[in-house]
Amino acid sequence: MKTVHALYFSATQTTSTIVKAIAESISNTLSLPMVIEDITTPSQRTAAGLLGEQQPDTCAVKPLNFNENDIVIFGVPVYIGRIPNLIKPFLCRIVGGGAIGIPVVVYGNRNYDDALLELRDLMKAGGFDCGVAAAAFSAEHCFSKVLGAGRPDAQDLAMAKEFGERICETIAGGKRKELEIPGNVPYRFFSAVDDNGKPFDIRKAKPVTDSSKCTGCGECVRMCPMGSIDANNPALVNGICIKCNACVKRCPAGAKRFEDERYLEHLGILERNYANIRKEPELFF
Ligand SMILES: Cc1cc2nc3c(=O)[nH]c(=O)nc-3n(C[C@H](O)[C@H](O)[C@H](O)COP(=O)(O)O)c2cc1C
Ligand code: SF4
Ligand code: SF4
Repeated sequence: MKTVHALYFSATQTTSTIVKAIAESISNTLSLPMVIEDITTPSQRTAAGLLGEQQPDTCAVKPLNFNENDIVIFGVPVYIGRIPNLIKPFLCRIVGGGAIGIPVVVYGNRNYDDALLELRDLMKAGGFDCGVAAAAFSAEHCFSKVLGAGRPDAQDLAMAKEFGERICETIAGGKRKELEIPGNVPYRFFSAVDDNGKPFDIRKAKPVTDSSKCTGCGECVRMCPMGSIDANNPALVNGICIKCNACVKRCPAGAKRFEDERYLEHLGILERNYANIRKEPELFF
């Protein structure tokens, strides 16, 4: 029997919400079981066999190998117009095995640039059948509370449901084609820019912690996709910070925030330019 998989990297849970809504719609329409494959944290990627050496014979890991019986909704957020670059090496290890693959990118109301094309190409190279459909959805920007505020909302989720139903019709009709997805090859290298188009370097920015609010619950340690927050002292970020804002938006005590000047300047520009626009989902068949 076929299985529908909701596969995603999702730090602030907008991508996961959309991918699960699409997968649920397919699962309900075709009466198929649905499985969630969350690869956001290092421990989840280890369980999926995407970290370290893959040793399928030992059964110690369960590599993400799909096959022709699978329908995989594969979602990632857009980071500077592309797939998150530090996550891409893990995504490249996922084996499509002829499964129907539906690429979905979720972006923060600015633009998805080359990310959907890049994801579709990565999935094709991994052995997915990507000729059915693809989509780009806009959501609340993880840096901000006003850019795409509250999205995905009911309208977006209705669109995700409809997208799932149309995917079922397309599969039933046996239709396949090379989807025309916007973007450039070679993929462009983007950068955060100021009002004059001058690049900002925000790579060094890391969140700060208000120790009067922090309860030491350890949630941020568990949810950081880079495993960078110190387990003994959650105020310390020891490793790489990808600015995903999981720790900021999901800390139950509201104890974390970014104070980096360049980061805040970049955020101000984004909010001035994109806060009052509603970008609608784009579906490709
Ligand atoms: C480093 C970084 C770069 C981003 N670049 C873009 C971008 O180029 N365009 C955009 O619209 N949103 C951008 N975003 C916002 C995310 O794509 C958006 O918040 C998305 O909903 C996050 O998905 P998640 O909730 O599943 O983590 C960026 C976010 C981060 C952390
Ligand atoms: S999630 Fe918030 S309250 Fe919990 S340890 Fe981290 S900073 Fe402290
Ligand atoms: S420390 Fe950086 S990478 Fe880790 S959860 Fe916070 S924003 Fe994301």
